[in-house]
Amino acid sequence: MLLLLGLFNTAFSHSPPARMGSLYTGEARAIATMQIGGCGVGLHISSRRAAIAGGAALLLPTTRLPSAAALPPFAGRTVVITGANSGLGLASATQMAAAGATVILAVRDASKGAEAKERIRAVTQNGALEVSELDLGDLSSVKSFAKRWGYRPCDVLMLNAGVMAIPQRATTEDGFERHLGVNHLGHFALTARLWPALKKAAAGGGAARVVVVSSDGHKKGTIRFDDINLEKPGAYKDCSTPFCSAYTQSKLANVLFAKELERRIPPGIEVAVSSVSPGLVNTALFRYSLPDLKADVGSGALVGDPDGSKLRDLQKIQGYFMTPADTAAQTQLALASDPKLDRAAVSGGYYVDGKKTPPSKEADDAAVASKMWELSERMTGIAFVPE
Ligand SMILES: NC(=O)c1ccc[n+]([C@@H]2O[C@H](COP(=O)([O-])OP(=O)(O)OC[C@H]3O[C@@H](n4cnc5c(N)ncnc54)[C@H](OP(=O)(O)O)[C@@H]3O)[C@@H](O)[C@H]2O)c1
Repeated sequence: MLLLLGLFNTAFSHSPPARMGSLYTGEARAIATMQIGGCGVGLHISSRRAAIAGGAALLLPTTRLPSAAALPPFAGRTVVITGANSGLGLASATQMAAAGATVILAVRDASKGAEAKERIRAVTQNGALEVSELDLGDLSSVKSFAKRWGYRPCDVLMLNAGVMAIPQRATTEDGFERHLGVNHLGHFALTARLWPALKKAAAGGGAARVVVVSSDGHKKGTIRFDDINLEKPGAYKDCSTPFCSAYTQSKLANVLFAKELERRIPPGIEVAVSSVSPGLVNTALFRYSLPDLKADVGSGALVGDPDGSKLRDLQKIQGYFMTPADTAAQTQLALASDPKLDRAAVSGGYYVDGKKTPPSKEADDAAVASKMWELSERMTGIAFVPE
C-alpha cells in the first residue's frame, strides 16, 4: 500500500499550497487540529484571532478544520458543495460556513450529510447549513436536487465530489462508466440545471463562481471518443492504482468542462469558472483500491471497517506525506470567494497550489473541449446553453 501511495505521490504531488500562496487572501492560517484521545475526540483550534474548543463524533480524525479568518466574509451568499461530507468538500464547507455563508451540503447519503453538519456546527456557529441529497451517479437524483432548489440564487457551485480507482469497471444508474458518470457527467448535468440560479446570483451583483475540482492526474488522461465508457478490451486499465485510465479521463473531462463553459458564457454574465488540482491530499479518496481497505462502489460505504479504524490507520500513514484537506482546500476556496478572482481574472484557468498553471495539451484543446461538451449533452440528454 505504501509503495502504491509513494508512487502516486511522485507522479502527482505538488508543493503544499501554503508555500505558493498567490491566491490566498488572509495571513491567518487558523487550524483546528483534531486529536484523538482515549474514548473521546477533542478539538483544539489555535489562531491569532480565535480559540474555540469543542467535541463531536468524528469520522476522519486527521482532518484539520480551518477558521473563518482565511476567507472574506460570506454572509448572505449561498454555496453548494458536492461531496461535502468528507475530505476536501468537508474542509471547504466548514470554512465557507465559518465565513458566514449559507452552505448546502450536496451529498449522496443524508445520514453522512447530517453527521458532517454536526461536525461543522461543532467548530463554527456561523453560517446556515443545509443537507440535500444528490447522487451524481444517477441523473434523476440530479434532476430532483435541482427541482428542490427552485428559484434560489446560487453564488458558488463547487463541483468537488469524486471517485477514484474503482478496481473493476462499474457503471452509474444511467449506464455510464462510473468515474466519468460521477466525476464529470453528473456535475455537467448539475451545472446545467443550476445555471439559472448561478445567473440569478450573478445578476444580483454577486459575481457567481463555478469551481471544478480536477486533478493533475488529468495529464495522464485522454478522452476516448471512440469508447467513452471504456468498454473495449484493455480500455479500463491500471484501475487498482490512481493511474486508473477511467479516473484520468474523468479528471481531464473536468478541466475541459471548465474551459468550455467559460468559452460558452456570453460576455456580461459574471459567472467565473475555473478548475483546480488540490495536490495529494489526506482524504478517503483511496478507499476503493487498497488491499486492506475497500468500499462498496454503489454507496461508498467502507466494507469490513465498521468502526472506521482501518480508515483512521490509513489516514495516519497518509498524514506523513499528504497535505491535510484544510490546507489543500485553500485553492478551491480562494477561487470560490476571493473578490479579485472574478471572471476576467480567472477566465477558465486551471489552478494548482494557488497559481494559474498550464494544464495538459489535450485539456487546452478547444476542439476537444467542444466535442466533449456536445457528447456530454447527448449522454445526459441535456442541452446546456449557458446564456
Ligand atoms: N485526495 C487527493 O489526493 C486528490 C487529488 C486530486 C484530486 N482530488 C479530487 O478532490 C475531490 C474530493 O475528493 P477527496 O479527496 O476529498 O475524497 P473523499 O474524501 O473520498 O471525498 C469524495 C466525496 O465525493 C462523494 N461522492 C462519491 N460518489 C458520489 C456520488 N455518486 N454522488 C455524490 N457524491 C459522491 C463522496 O461521498 P461518500 O462519502 O458518500 O462516498 C465524498 O463526499 C475529488 O473530485 C477528487 O478527484 C483529490
